[in-house]
Amino acid sequence: MNNEELLQLLHSMTHQEKLGQMTQLTPDLFDIDGQFNVTGPLKELNLEEEDISRMGSTLNGTGAQRVKRMQDKHMKEDRLHIPLLIMADVVHGYRTIFPVPHAMSCSFNPALPEEAASIAAREAAAAGVQVTFAPMADLVRDPRWGRVMESPGEDPYLNAKITEAYVRGFQGSDPKAEGKVAACVKHFAAYGASEAGRDYNTVDISEGILREFYLSAYQAAVKAGVKLVMSSFNLYERVPAAVNKKLQRQILRKEWGFDGVTITDYSAVDETLSHGVCQDGAEAARRAIEAGTDIEMTSCHFYQNAERLVAEGKLDEKLIDEAVYRILRLKNELGLFENPYKDADEEKEKELFLCPEHLEAARRIGGQCAILLKNENKVLPLSGGKLGLAGPFACVKDLLGPWALTSPDGVSSIYNAFCARMGMASLPCGMTDELPSLTTGIRDVPDQVEEALQALSGCDTVVVCIGENVADSGEAASKVSLRISPNQEKLVRRLKESGKTVIAVVLSGRPLVLTDILPHCDAVVQAWYLGTEMAKCVTDVLFGDVNPSARVALSFPRDVGQCPVYYNHYRTGRPLSGPDDPDFYKSRYLDCSNEPLFPFGYGLSYSEFSYSPITVTGGSQITAQVTVKNTSSRAGKETVQLYVHDVVGSVARPVKELKGFEQIELQPGEEKTVSFQVTKEALSFPNEDLELVFEPGEFDVMIGSDSAHVETVRVTVQ
Ligand code: BGC
Repeated sequence: MNNEELLQLLHSMTHQEKLGQMTQLTPDLFDIDGQFNVTGPLKELNLEEEDISRMGSTLNGTGAQRVKRMQDKHMKEDRLHIPLLIMADVVHGYRTIFPVPHAMSCSFNPALPEEAASIAAREAAAAGVQVTFAPMADLVRDPRWGRVMESPGEDPYLNAKITEAYVRGFQGSDPKAEGKVAACVKHFAAYGASEAGRDYNTVDISEGILREFYLSAYQAAVKAGVKLVMSSFNLYERVPAAVNKKLQRQILRKEWGFDGVTITDYSAVDETLSHGVCQDGAEAARRAIEAGTDIEMTSCHFYQNAERLVAEGKLDEKLIDEAVYRILRLKNELGLFENPYKDADEEKEKELFLCPEHLEAARRIGGQCAILLKNENKVLPLSGGKLGLAGPFACVKDLLGPWALTSPDGVSSIYNAFCARMGMASLPCGMTDELPSLTTGIRDVPDQVEEALQALSGCDTVVVCIGENVADSGEAASKVSLRISPNQEKLVRRLKESGKTVIAVVLSGRPLVLTDILPHCDAVVQAWYLGTEMAKCVTDVLFGDVNPSARVALSFPRDVGQCPVYYNHYRTGRPLSGPDDPDFYKSRYLDCSNEPLFPFGYGLSYSEFSYSPITVTGGSQITAQVTVKNTSSRAGKETVQLYVHDVVGSVARPVKELKGFEQIELQPGEEKTVSFQVTKEALSFPNEDLELVFEPGEFDVMIGSDSAHVETVRVTVQ
């Protein structure tokens, strides 16, 4: 359709038809053979059967056959034959599941999320998905929050690079193309800043902090051409995001020029009543539409109220027309008016789901997302010895992580992958039965230490798979204790006390507090949830087929009482000069270091690298250079990181800010020179009046292997 035809369509629509386009309902309301159950969800929503035919989109009802069935029925019943928009949470894969997004960010390699997203899009598109509710760009500083597993982490620069890569992967250069989907960046804005890490809790940050840290990744998605933006559940400046004019009208639309479709999060318009900021559904609808919301997810306040609001002169009809135009234009851009199924195709599903090419990518990518946190005496990679497995996660197959819209059937356990890798029918194992309730959020595992010690008595090396249950992270899965549970800690300690080499593989959706177990482990691999091929990824890393290269993207706390602990904090008026600072009246804890257990950017490799002295020039921008050499006998990857610190600013400046990173691969003995350029634009920040400014002066320029290990040179930038 051309633009004129789109406008004609818009003008031929009734009010109710327009408001239907602005409403998204669950698929059970569309996917019905026979009679509607008018006493069920329809009644709750105060809808009649014929209302359904006017609705514009649905969520998480997928599968080629199902989508075609829904679409056929809808196209027949909708007076104007406007196709439904089929959206779904394709977060880290559709059938072939990739590492959870936080793990992907830890790769520090944007090419990987881009590749994973493009495979996810291919599979999802075959299953009829047209829009994915991804990527999640929410910056996070508090590991108590369960959605850390979906977040790119604590750093605005890394988050932006990872988020835009996801958008490119899902959408390609044209989301209409076969195997592509439109992306919806979420949750705008600052959803990751919920107080005390409790999901859906209040967010209370100043606009300066919002602009300094939280916005960059959403903005990067917008610059990358993302088609949709989802608003968040939380308050911003005491106003829920769904009805927040400053976020949506001012920042997103006016300042960034976003012209695509906005959608609320699940029932977020309705929740403005629970927040106590709207009196009733009519007020919620008016405020959400005035704020710039185009689609209301799973509640019907627009549909029920907006026509009357317009008639009473309380809502400008123009706002509705603008919203509906954007929705119709998106449908048109996806080619739905010509082909409402888009790529839904049962044959393609068979061909693509879990195909060898996708599994190969999942395995290759997964191996680059596991972080080697400790490797005392180079006990890894494994070589020889009598090996056994232990820990509650050794035999578990539920390794896909939250938001995997598929079952873990056919997924191999880490134990099975070890047997396969070692060509053994079985191996000594301290935990043979899969835990019955790993997906129900249990807090500890049975104490099986004595059984484990007995089963492993002949082993000198034990790989102990510990961590938290899949259901312990994800949406609504906030926790106040991040310690390894007592029975798991006991297992690790007793294995070490029995004289074995202990290698911990930690499965979790967030950085856990590893302080208790660290002294009892010779090596620790933070494995997250790596998806369909996780078990093989773990053996690849532990046996050295893959040399670890991933880095910490959210600081690992020593104790939950430190949270939030992050590298890019402000200095304070009384900064510690170092851990031994004798002055009492300093910003510190009496009972814990200020520093995290593992800082942002940290991660080991089986290789070793040396850094030359860095050279830095100032002037009109920063140019910095370092030569890195692989001093070991193993090829490996090093992630060279560049940080800056603005020595004096008109407002406080972070002690360090990542402004560049480059992952280089070096053969044994090989060296490479890495150069960074940091422009004035990249050095700009929101001043006291929230204007983005560059303030000339001195900058500390730092290059190193992580945020805590850097060499610093001071330069002047004019
Ligand atoms: C989540 C979103 C998700 C939506 C639709 C909400 O509860 O916060 O991230 O996209 O549900 O499933």
